[in-house]
This record gives sequence, structure tokens and C-alpha cells, in this order.
Amino acid sequence: KHILLLGAPGAGKGTQSKRLASEFDLEHVTTGDALRANKDMDISDMDFEYDTPRAYMDAGELVPDDVVNEIVKTALQSADGYVLDGYPRNLDQAEYLSEITDLDAVLYLDVSEEELVDRLTGRRVCPECGSNYHVEFAPPAEEGVCDECGADLIQRDDDTEATVRERLSVYHENTEPVVDHYREEGVLVEIDGEQTPDDVFEDVASVVDDA
Ligand code: AP5
Ligand code: ZN
Repeated sequence: KHILLLGAPGAGKGTQSKRLASEFDLEHVTTGDALRANKDMDISDMDFEYDTPRAYMDAGELVPDDVVNEIVKTALQSADGYVLDGYPRNLDQAEYLSEITDLDAVLYLDVSEEELVDRLTGRRVCPECGSNYHVEFAPPAEEGVCDECGADLIQRDDDTEATVRERLSVYHENTEPVVDHYREEGVLVEIDGEQTPDDVFEDVASVVDDA
């Protein structure tokens, strides 16, 4: 199955995608994680504003399409079934995606702006195994320590309040038109993303089941 999961920064795409990938045996393709793993990749020869993905990410801006499209193309080539998270983020990326693959379901996690800010500023992540936590909504058993692997949790560089605001404004300007595009095509399934993670997953899984 080819599943696309859309939503604003903090809507729960990563949380739900990881679970979908493991329960439905899909590849989790996420441009955010791929870029974080290659933050210092030298892109200075491509004549962009900045020399590395890190500079864009820490500013809350989009990494140039040429870089991201290439990552997605390579990842999808080697994936049979997948859940795609964090891409497409603008209409040009959506156009590119339609040229390289087809989709069985497009889901959108709907979460209010205030909730997004609370989720992102309270998020903690494990640098070793990638597990996600929230200081209030999903705390680890021992404060600051990963339940899965015991590593010390960190805050993502782009989860500061100022960068979160910038990411949300980039989302409104560039990515909301992508959501509207799939809605107009009649393929968008909207999910209430403000329920508990388990309840959100129940809704998401039932759509994927039928896809
Ligand atoms: P990316 O890594 O994709 O970040 P994002 O879209 O901003 O999304 P997040 O990972 O912040 O949030 P999420 O929706 O996955 O939420 P999560 O499940 O973690 O992108 C980062 C940067 O990379 C971009 O800014 C850009 O620079 C670059 N980039 C990436 N893709 C790109 C592209 N295609 N083009 C160009 N540039 C690109 O949940 C958030 C928090 O909420 C967690 O703490 C979690 O525990 C908690 N939570 C989750 N669900 C619930 C719930 N139901 N109730 C309560 N709390 C919850
Ligand atoms: Zn861990």
C-alpha cells in the first residue's frame, strides 16, 4: 500500500507513521528524518541560499526541492509499500510526487494551532533510537530518559518557540495548498488529530485497512 500522511508540524505524523509502518509492514519514508541524518551534507555546489540542510531546518524554512525530491525518489524506489511523512510540502513537490508514484490513501491529521505549539515545544526525542516523547502528554517513565534504549532525551534544534512559529507560518503558506489540492481531488480523508494517540491510530488504521 502507498499511504500519504499529511499534517502541520506537530500534528502527529511521525508518531502515527511509525506505528503504521510496523503494524502494516510498510516502509516509513520521512524527509524530516532523512534530512536530520544528513544535516551537514554539502549542497554548496547547487547554488542555493545556504550550504547545508541544517541551515534551512534550524531557520524553520523548507530545504530546496531538488534536494528533497531526490531523497524521496531514492527512498520510494526501494520501497514496496510505504507511508510517506513530511512530503510533499509545496505544490511543486506534490506535482513531482505524482510523476514518480501513485497513492492508495491520503490522510490529513487535523490539529489546532495552539495545540501544535504546545506539542512541539514540549517534545523530547531519543537521539539513539528515534522514539518520541512529550514532557506532559507522553512522558517517559524516568524523566529525560528513553524508555526503549535508556539514552538521554534531547530537544530538537527546531523545537524552540521562535522556530516553531516560523515552521507554522511556512506550513500555512506552502503546505496548506497541498492539503487543499488533495481535498479538491476528492481523495483527502480528514482525521481528528486531537484525540489520544491510540484513538487517532484507530481512525488512521481503519482508513489504511480499506485502502
Ligand atoms: P519534519 O521532521 O518533517 O517536521 P514537521 O513536519 O515539522 O513535523 P514534526 O516532526 O515536527 O511533527 P509530527 O507531525 O511528526 O509530530 P510528532 O508525531 O513528532 O521537518 C523538519 C524540517 O525538515 C522542516 O522544517 C524543513 O526544514 C525540513 N523538511 C522536511 N521535509 C521537507 C520537505 N518535504 N521539503 C522541504 N523541507 C523539508 O508529534 C509531536 C509531539 O506531539 C510529540 O511530542 C508527540 O509525543 C506529541 N503527540 C503526538 N500525537 C499526540 C496526541 N494525539 N496527543 C498528544 N500529544 C501527541
Ligand atoms: Zn531510545
